[in-house]
Amino acid sequence: MSISPLMPVYPRCGVRPVKGEHCHLIDEDGTRYLDFASGIAVNLLGHSHPGLIGAIQRQAETLMHVSNLYGSPQGEDLAQRLVDKTFADTVFFTNSGAEAMECAIKTARAYHQHEDGDSNRTELITFTNAFHGRTMATISASNQEKMHKGFYPMLAGFQYAEFDNLESAKALVSDKTAGFLVEPIQGEGGIRPASDEFIHGLKALCDEHDLMLVFDEVQCGVARTGKLYAYEHYGIKPDIMASAKGLGGGFPVGACLATEKAARGMGFGTHGSTYGGNPLAMAAGVAVMEAVANDEFLAEVTEKGERLRSRLEQFIGNYPDLFDFVRGKGLMLGIRMKVESRPFFVHLRDNHQLLTVAAGDQTLRVLPPLVADNAEFDEFMDKLSAGAASFVPAAS
Ligand SMILES: Cc1ncc(COP(=O)(O)O)c(C=O)c1O
Repeated sequence: MSISPLMPVYPRCGVRPVKGEHCHLIDEDGTRYLDFASGIAVNLLGHSHPGLIGAIQRQAETLMHVSNLYGSPQGEDLAQRLVDKTFADTVFFTNSGAEAMECAIKTARAYHQHEDGDSNRTELITFTNAFHGRTMATISASNQEKMHKGFYPMLAGFQYAEFDNLESAKALVSDKTAGFLVEPIQGEGGIRPASDEFIHGLKALCDEHDLMLVFDEVQCGVARTGKLYAYEHYGIKPDIMASAKGLGGGFPVGACLATEKAARGMGFGTHGSTYGGNPLAMAAGVAVMEAVANDEFLAEVTEKGERLRSRLEQFIGNYPDLFDFVRGKGLMLGIRMKVESRPFFVHLRDNHQLLTVAAGDQTLRVLPPLVADNAEFDEFMDKLSAGAASFVPAAS
């Protein structure tokens, strides 16, 4: 057998972290990396956060797992915190973003297949360059051919419109439309915030035709953009929203949030998960919410984001052949490059011990832990400057 014991679906690099300390990762050979990838927008409290560790330890010593057939004081605690701080009235917990999306898709369909609904409305309109996960429903929800290849047939019921183009979305609305599914800020697609007009236009179409507005905030949610959830930047409320990644700060926690109206089809027996809402996961989620769901923390993220962005904007001017512009919100920033971003991301990682993430649309994602401080932002700028100075783009 020559296949790796880990199914080889990831192009794993040579960095093999064995320890995390605040904003740094330490490799098994002792090399220290500055982690401005945060496990792709997960470790929002950094690594080894004492509050998060304590919460998980205490819960592990008390009760690690019970079935969802029993009452869940731990789940009610986290769900109530989310309900208090968001548009939602009710929450279903999952173990990942894709599962939160699966629940969101089912909730949107079930809204229309409810006895008071119109069961012909089965199609969700989704958007180009979207990423919603790797399950069959979530790859079907994305128009990206590269994720479909080898896995046909796709699940029916998704129509693809152009991201941030309201006319394109409008043109697809029919008597089969159940709603829109959109990342308000595309992550994998290259840190691309949707415009106000686009989001407001989708909301108006939903109001007009009784459609579900489903937000995928798996990457942009949980304080990353300086708001607890990115929808708040737009001054509108979705009907259904998927959250995950940062929600457990590194422990696998996902959630599908919905209004009471949107969740009308999700009665007893319609959905479930053995592990979803597991007490250990809920303890992690509560610790994260305690740390981030307050005005002071969110204002700090906004302020750090503005400072980092202005430093980046000043810096990229020194390399007009390499960098184009900076976009994003809060500490979800992307540097749009004039060359492919992947080789630069590899160069930063391997030659300057700086971890970032490459994304679509020639973008380098900068996703620091939200607790990064001035010293770490200075270290980041130093490494980025050294990386840009020593980078030789491949000849095109
Ligand atoms: C916007 C978005 N939705 C869904 C997912 C899927 O989340 P998970 O990998 O936890 O299944 C991701 C993961 O990157 C994401 O960025």
